[in-house]
Amino acid sequence: MNTLKTVSSPVSIVDQPALAKSQSSILEIWGGTPLEGKVKISGAKNSALVLMAGALLCSEPCRLQNVPSLADIQGMTRILESLGVKIKQSIDTLELDPTNLTSTDAPYELVSKLRASFFAIGPLLARMGVAKVPLPGGCAIGARPVEIHVRGLKQLGAQVYIEHGVVHAYASQLKGAKIYLDYPSVGATETLMMAATLAEGETILDNAAQEPEVIDLANFCRSMGAKISGAGTKTITISGVPNLHATDYDIVPDRIEAGTFLMAGAITHSDILLESVVPEHLSAVTAKLKEVGFQLTPDANRGLRIQSKGVHTGTEIETLPYPGFPTDLQSLFMALLTLSQGSSVVTETVFENRLGHVPELVRMGADIKVKGNVAVIQGVPFLSGAPVTGTDLRATAALAVAALAANGKTSISGLQHLDRGYANFEQKLRDLGARIERVPTVEA
Ligand code: UD1
Repeated sequence: MNTLKTVSSPVSIVDQPALAKSQSSILEIWGGTPLEGKVKISGAKNSALVLMAGALLCSEPCRLQNVPSLADIQGMTRILESLGVKIKQSIDTLELDPTNLTSTDAPYELVSKLRASFFAIGPLLARMGVAKVPLPGGCAIGARPVEIHVRGLKQLGAQVYIEHGVVHAYASQLKGAKIYLDYPSVGATETLMMAATLAEGETILDNAAQEPEVIDLANFCRSMGAKISGAGTKTITISGVPNLHATDYDIVPDRIEAGTFLMAGAITHSDILLESVVPEHLSAVTAKLKEVGFQLTPDANRGLRIQSKGVHTGTEIETLPYPGFPTDLQSLFMALLTLSQGSSVVTETVFENRLGHVPELVRMGADIKVKGNVAVIQGVPFLSGAPVTGTDLRATAALAVAALAANGKTSISGLQHLDRGYANFEQKLRDLGARIERVPTVEA
């Protein structure tokens, strides 16, 4: 790749005005309009965030392409800038120059707003020998501890302790190790994979997460010269190298955004085509959509078409680590099941508190009963538009999907969650024919 000039970001990464705008606006959706046409899926949020952290491993500039335009990307940009990374952003490209890091302390006020920023601990420690990253804390969907990350870093030879809410990690040279993860945590797999790229000797991660974003991170690190094999299986082997070099890398399409648009097509019984997707990454989701009555047709050109056969039935789903049904699409699939013929059971096993959308769907007329982590849904003939509030990113998206099929107008608050993870959400839906507007609230 071309050597990049190190320039500071020309855009305001702070984006407090954008956050204030998200908090002081609502989405108004008038349901009942079938969708039609094509929608282009953006790069994966969860890949982009961890690849940005991964760039810290490299002592030369890197370029990431197909980066989605999201509040979370802005947040990660601020954190990297606070560590001394020079960042230039244009449309969907990020140029990151981590040559001269000026700090190894991630600031609390930034990390607390973006849990994924904790993943910076692995690359910082591996490259700089020291990292101080505040505990990310819980969030709306669960406690989200990090002990699997910490235990793995210790096994790589780091001295790690937690003081005043900050994880301190030190290692003059990480050493390869055989590490068994108690749970195939996506974040812990990514933290340890990144740390091991610069460790001395070989690391084997057993019971590793197999998510496509883990594969994307491995491919990104390999494009910088890392030696990694087995990503996408339960066993990943990393042979440490002394340093990594510049790269130019294209981020994988967002399977969760793609799944969201599949649900939007399904719930409105429409015929739409998703462009720029990897259909294999959605196998568990498309299998369930077929089972309940939809036709899914991948094409050779990274396309995926969904068509309705008229009605859809209920089913059972259980969220699981990949390749199981993704927790990030549980709320969206539940929105679809509220209008199915018959009953359904949805079991959330990945996060302990991820049913915040249920009371809001019930406000729209859904028939859902919850016991613990299990929701039983009895399909109803119609939903009714209502004022509702999103409690987290995917819960808010699920309410928007439900609103597309509801009678009348739904007004959705909580857009600060939605804007964390969906690029041009309402524009993409409007281009498909949905009646959707973002409007300022009266107070604003
Ligand atoms: C990532 C995704 C998130 C997705 C999740 C599961 C990013 C930025 N976010 O989150 O969108 O919903 O994967 O697919 O990539 N756990 C522990 N101890 C640990 C680590 C995790 O108990 O040290 C638990 C978590 O609390 C959770 C479960 O393991 O209950 C799964 O978490 P994990 O796979 O780590 O998810 P994240 O990487 O945080």
